[in-house]
Amino acid sequence: MAPASKKTMCLATTVGLGLVCSVVAFLLYFEPPSPVCPSTLADVKNHKDVIPDEKPLVMLWFWPLGVKFDFKACFTHFKIDNCVLTDNRSLYNQAKGVIFFHRDIAGDLKNMPQEPRPAFQKWIWYHVESPTNTGRTPGLENLFNLTLSYRREADITARNELTIRKTELKEDFVLPNKDKVVCWIVSNNFQVTGTATRENYYKELSKHIKVNLFGTAFTEKRLSFEEYYSTIASCKFYLSFENSLHRDYITEKVNGPLVAGTVPIVLGPPRENYEQFLPSDAFIHINDFPDAKSLADFLLFMTDAAYMHYFEWRKFYEATPHLLSVYNEFIQPICLACDHMSRDVNYNVVHDLYKWYTT
Ligand SMILES: *[C@@H]1O[C@H](CO)[C@@H](O)[C@H](O)[C@H]1NC(C)=O
Ligand SMILES: *[C@@H]1O[C@H](CO)[C@@H](O)[C@H](O)[C@H]1NC(C)=O
Repeated sequence: MAPASKKTMCLATTVGLGLVCSVVAFLLYFEPPSPVCPSTLADVKNHKDVIPDEKPLVMLWFWPLGVKFDFKACFTHFKIDNCVLTDNRSLYNQAKGVIFFHRDIAGDLKNMPQEPRPAFQKWIWYHVESPTNTGRTPGLENLFNLTLSYRREADITARNELTIRKTELKEDFVLPNKDKVVCWIVSNNFQVTGTATRENYYKELSKHIKVNLFGTAFTEKRLSFEEYYSTIASCKFYLSFENSLHRDYITEKVNGPLVAGTVPIVLGPPRENYEQFLPSDAFIHINDFPDAKSLADFLLFMTDAAYMHYFEWRKFYEATPHLLSVYNEFIQPICLACDHMSRDVNYNVVHDLYKWYTT
């Protein structure tokens, strides 16, 4: 094939792909399009500016809440090393992606880059708080190209997920020793963050069954990170109560008991939403019962055989311990952004950021 016609075909394919992409993207609503599907010619052209064999440079504009970590952690913890992460702002013009931690963006946007944005560069909005706990900084519409959040339809989804075992587990699961029935570690009871629902449910539940409390919200029992998993493991059930109720807002509060070998009792979005992430018999949902008393009775009178049924999922899935402490919680999302940028060639614009986030 002559070089000219080859080029034409390449363009035609690109246009075709672009069309397919937009249609697919439209049909799937917010489902991210396939990462290798270029959606505009402009993007393909811009993409040529980036030397293909080089790992893309991805810049972290702010250290989230000022917490620093060694970028090598991406490889150590997640085997991700297909981009070069940097916090050196003098490299801004070379960065293919720039990550902005929402809570650190100043109200007047003065701490955002003031230089023009290179055509190939993508700005990544990084936010993992629920909509209830999201400050609305004006001027963030039509500014970002990619979203990094816990939400399933974000471009980069950062959450604790069960992984499918490559081979079915042969050994039987050994239940950790339990000396408590229901436990709850809770440090935040600021009602402005949306905690009233879970507090009311807890108050009602504790009239019918003892709830062992840890954490600073109602007790003086501050747990060290070393005690976190072992404390949860010592309880048959754990209250995985989210602070506010939003679709996909299912946090490490559920992952903790799944890792520890304890049954989570969840309060958050509806059961159907949990089942998009977890096997239906890995948890108990408060809405499975008409009221807190019925739930308490169910827990108190559960047979051992019925209880063990909640661990069947372990044959097929594996829960990965999440990194504890504020010093570690930012690592995984940033590494995922790095990984995404090494594959992303689409043209993206996030138009109405808050509308997207709150619907
Ligand atoms: C940041 O990058 C510039 C340009 O490559 C370099 O001169 C400088 O030493 C770097 N700064 C740090 C702190 O690494
Ligand atoms: C990123 O988003 C900005 C703002 O909407 C837009 O002007 C720019 O063209 C986008 N860039 C890419 C590479 O998607």
